[in-house]
Amino acid sequence: MHLSGQQYPLYWPQFTSGYERVKITTTTPTTMMEMEQHIEPLTRGIVIFGATGDLCKRKLIPALYKLWQKGLLPKGFSITGAARRDPGRGRWIESLGDYPVDFTLLLDYISCDLDNQESLQRLPETDDTTYFLSVPPERYENAIISLKKGGFLDDSETSRVVIEKPFGYDLKSANHLQSVVGRHLREKQVYRIDHYLGKDTVNNILATRFGNTLLEPLWNREYIEEIQIFATETIGCEGRSQYYDGAGVVRDMLQNHMLQVLALVAMEAPCKMDAKEIRREKTKVLSATRLGKKLITGQYEGYREEQGVGPESMTQTFVAGDLYIDNWRWKGVPFHFMTGKKMPFQCVEVVIKLKAPPLNLFEGETNDRIVMRLQPHAHLDIRIDVKSPGLGDSVEEATLTHRYPDWLGVDGYEKLLYDAINDDQSHFVHSEEVIESWRIVDDLLCTGDSCPIRTAPYLYKENTWGPMHKTEMITQWDYPA
Ligand code: BG6
Repeated sequence: MHLSGQQYPLYWPQFTSGYERVKITTTTPTTMMEMEQHIEPLTRGIVIFGATGDLCKRKLIPALYKLWQKGLLPKGFSITGAARRDPGRGRWIESLGDYPVDFTLLLDYISCDLDNQESLQRLPETDDTTYFLSVPPERYENAIISLKKGGFLDDSETSRVVIEKPFGYDLKSANHLQSVVGRHLREKQVYRIDHYLGKDTVNNILATRFGNTLLEPLWNREYIEEIQIFATETIGCEGRSQYYDGAGVVRDMLQNHMLQVLALVAMEAPCKMDAKEIRREKTKVLSATRLGKKLITGQYEGYREEQGVGPESMTQTFVAGDLYIDNWRWKGVPFHFMTGKKMPFQCVEVVIKLKAPPLNLFEGETNDRIVMRLQPHAHLDIRIDVKSPGLGDSVEEATLTHRYPDWLGVDGYEKLLYDAINDDQSHFVHSEEVIESWRIVDDLLCTGDSCPIRTAPYLYKENTWGPMHKTEMITQWDYPA
């Protein structure tokens, strides 16, 4: 049991199993019994700003509901939706969909404005509160200042803020936002979401690498020729053009999800599996990462005709290229990446292409590969050459496959909300990781004086792997299938 005193920090030895946050309502206990009489569980809750928005309805409430169903929300947990509009509690709950009455009893709605201190005073007074900012990114700065000013974030042990991506718009704005965050909050209070880090299969990268000794000896420039990372989608921007047209694929996918996957694939083993050590290793590898020179951006044909997109939009819906990690383990190994919308296949996959053996002894040899399919239908493949049956000595490819039971896994937001409520930052992005990621992609955003890519994206047809006459020149892709 973790005890935290209301008036004075006070430690009391564990006497029930499990961890439970409690408050102690006396400062002068004389006996154990007296102490026990003054122990009460902390009241805990989450406040979701932007509660009338899509994210709250589609992801957050369903995730909290699943946690509730599994009995994983703390006792007496409260879920408060907050937004400027005032539909009233009943209408708001109705708008969320069908939930059992017992669950809706946890829900409340407060109409309030993050810019208006008086209205913030209507927020519930829980002892331990997670504030989820599901508001437009340009409001993050004011939101944090305002919550701090209102005294909601004074105790770094019992208050925290969850911030959705994007954290900043480019390196400069991310640095600025971080300076505001750093002035008002301790890093341990800041939970920057990258929903990929909530995916079981993404977290399985570390388990597969470091839970075994099979792969790690090969995992370096001696044995690996090239790594390819794909995050391809068949959908377009699906009615999100208001956001997407201003963001584009580099901000939407590369700066965050793709670089997080890269960091997990390439980082050193942490000395233990806790937030500090994992994030330290990810930061180290990101700080050694830089863009290569083979960078291509594209836009799918028909994008400009989508609702809300201008006829001259230069927004990139596709990017492919190379990244290098200048450290001892990876020097010289290209990390090729491809991400885009309206592609032939929806898939997140990492392909590790091993070097050929020193002698080519067998006819039919191909490079061995380790393939981590993260979604959909996650699996780990090890593709090696084996003797072809028969009289000859030639070889053919065989695939050893482990199918990851992702139907048993949890949704990203379920995992991330559970972790945030329980104060575990392991699967959230540290400020230094965000800044390094922006540094890596900043050139691709072409906001500065020089731009290493053609500013007009190449057009590509729906259902193709981007502008292939250009992307094929980057590498020989192992397109997912
Ligand atoms: C989001 C992007 O962060 O990730 C979307 O804004 C993208 O554009 C989505 O479609 C992909 O997530 P997932 O979980 O479907 O791979």
